[in-house]
Amino acid sequence: MAEELVDRLFEAAESARARSYSPYSGFAVGAAVLTDTDEIVPGTNVENASYGATICAERAAVLGAISQGAGKPVAVAIVSDAESPAWPCGQCLQVLVEFGRDLPVYTRGKNGVVESVRVDELVTRPFDEVPG
Ligand code: THU
Repeated sequence: MAEELVDRLFEAAESARARSYSPYSGFAVGAAVLTDTDEIVPGTNVENASYGATICAERAAVLGAISQGAGKPVAVAIVSDAESPAWPCGQCLQVLVEFGRDLPVYTRGKNGVVESVRVDELVTRPFDEVPG
C-alpha cells in the first residue's frame, strides 16, 4: 500500500488511541480501517466493568465502518505503546479475516517500528463454514 496512505491510517489510529476508554487495563489502543470506498474509519478500545464486554480498537473500527456505511475494510492499522507492536487478538482476527484473507495489518508500538503482514498469516485457518 502507498506509504502516504499508511501514514494517514496511522494518524487516524493515533487520534483514536487518544480517545481510548481503558480505565481497567490502562492499555490504550487505536485502530483505523481503510475501506473499499477509500474512507478511513477510526476505532479505539472501550472497556467495561464487566471485563468481557470490552471491545477492542480493531473491532470498534470495523463495526464503525460498516455501521456508518463507509464501505468494507481493506486494510487496518493499529497503534499502542507496547514495547513491540501489538497484533490483533483472536476475536479481532476473525472479524478482520471476514473481509479478506489478504487484508494487510499494519501495527506500530512504542519503538515506532511499523510491522505489516497479511491477516491470513496471523489467522491461518479461520472459521468460515457458512450454514446452509
Ligand atoms: N485490545 C485491543 O484494543 N486490541 C487488541 O487486539 C488486543 C487488546 C485492548 C482490549 C483491552 O481494552 C486492552 O487492550 C487490554 O487487553
